[in-house]
Amino acid sequence: FNVPVAKNEPVRTYAPGSGERKSLQAKLAELRSVEVELPMIIAGKEVTTDRRRRIAPPHDHQHTLGYFFEGDSSHVQMAIDAALDAKKAWADMGWQHRAAIFLKAADLLAGPYRDKMNAATMLGQSKNAFQAEIDAACELADFFRYGVKCMTDIYQMQPESSAGIWNYNEYRPLEGFVFALTPFNFTSIAGNLPSAPVMMGNVAVWKPSNTSVYSAAVIMEILQEAGLPEGVINLVYVAGPVAGEVIFSHPDFAGIHFTGSTAVFQNIWKTIGENIYKYKAYPRIVGETGGKDFIFADPTADPQALAVAMLRGAFEYQGQKCSAASRVYVPESIWADVRGRFEKMMGTVKMGPVEDFTNFVNAVIDEKSFDKLAAYIERAKSSKDAQVIWGGKCDKSVGYFIEPTVILAAKADYETMVDELFGPVLTVYVYEDRKLDETLALVDQTSMYALTGAIFSQDRYSIERMTKRLENAAGNFYINDKPTGAVVGQQPFGGARGSGTNDKAGSVFNMLRWTSIRTVKETF
Ligand code: SER
Repeated sequence: FNVPVAKNEPVRTYAPGSGERKSLQAKLAELRSVEVELPMIIAGKEVTTDRRRRIAPPHDHQHTLGYFFEGDSSHVQMAIDAALDAKKAWADMGWQHRAAIFLKAADLLAGPYRDKMNAATMLGQSKNAFQAEIDAACELADFFRYGVKCMTDIYQMQPESSAGIWNYNEYRPLEGFVFALTPFNFTSIAGNLPSAPVMMGNVAVWKPSNTSVYSAAVIMEILQEAGLPEGVINLVYVAGPVAGEVIFSHPDFAGIHFTGSTAVFQNIWKTIGENIYKYKAYPRIVGETGGKDFIFADPTADPQALAVAMLRGAFEYQGQKCSAASRVYVPESIWADVRGRFEKMMGTVKMGPVEDFTNFVNAVIDEKSFDKLAAYIERAKSSKDAQVIWGGKCDKSVGYFIEPTVILAAKADYETMVDELFGPVLTVYVYEDRKLDETLALVDQTSMYALTGAIFSQDRYSIERMTKRLENAAGNFYINDKPTGAVVGQQPFGGARGSGTNDKAGSVFNMLRWTSIRTVKETF
């Protein structure tokens, strides 16, 4: 198992005047100046239809970046057939060759394709250069490299043998095909969801979100250039229910690798249940869903560190990380200090298009999201239980811009303390210091989710107590840091309860879901 050592891809800083900034800016200008046409890729072939859907930057929705070709149920069927045709040769291929494809893909991504991958993510998903870099370039390369490492770690997990008996595990792919249904908010997650099962010898049908087709197409281009054989991953652009109807009733459906909303995942689970008698094997259901991620500070919290975590945790990528901080509990005794520091930093935060690298906040993904967020903000403005203390302006005339907004809630169960908003809206609840224990209990009680959470304290007894009390409140738990930015290989990512199956993306725990083990005992 001699594979190159996995290391996190170093993050570029795109300093003003640097060559890397100029090169990325040139790529952005290039992608803005042409109109691409993005076909589906089925059995390695480009597939077009007569339904072209327009792609526009969320921050500049009148500009046309290009079009993708939308398919129907016949294309989903074609993709399944192509996957099943490719299955045997791919499963029989030695693991070194599967590994080599993904290691090469990581190098292509980190090298010649880096600007294109980042630019497609920036323009297509309104993600600024720094957020695109940590996601589309670095995290996706990390998923590929650590995926290979996890694969070989798994193959080495073998049972004991004894005198005259040799036992071993064969890590076979699942029978059938895997369906990857991927989100807009992380290009890296979109790339990882089909790739992780495929590394383990499976074949996949991949349906990306309609709001991130551009970056999905670039990922596919990289995988093809790295030598992924035709039919191993089949990329289709179809409406979710159209894909679901064909896929979940297919006898060879072997599993779903999902990131998206809780409601969609629950509906998928139900549909799989209804179809259970049709399948050859019980499908693997792996999903990361919603969150209502928290920050909880005690009176000893470092006010500066807390203010930074609130700003970065809540507003990087417009709060559209599943891990984003969206509710924060601050004790009365430090609130004025924290607020002063936070507002001073917020005063320097700029919002605007991604082409200007000084904009920290860009647009939210689409009109639906904009309208939902604007409605919550408007209700907060006139509520007796809430007060908008920062931001609050919403303007969709050019792009879907929601100003970073802070709501002060008078009640710990005010709607923006409870509902997942998925946008740049942070709700603060200030509690009386003497009520720390009962407020801590509210973290669990007011949310059905358990994805990420952070505590801030400089008192070790308090840290220990809060960590224990919040044991089930988050799958990724941060002490004195913002709850976002998990790094592949360092913080395996995922949550439980309403937040998913907690199968920890980018780790052996996840990769183990994509294999069906045959244990062999040979007696001599
Ligand atoms: N991995 C991302 C983060 O930790 C969320 O998906 O922010």
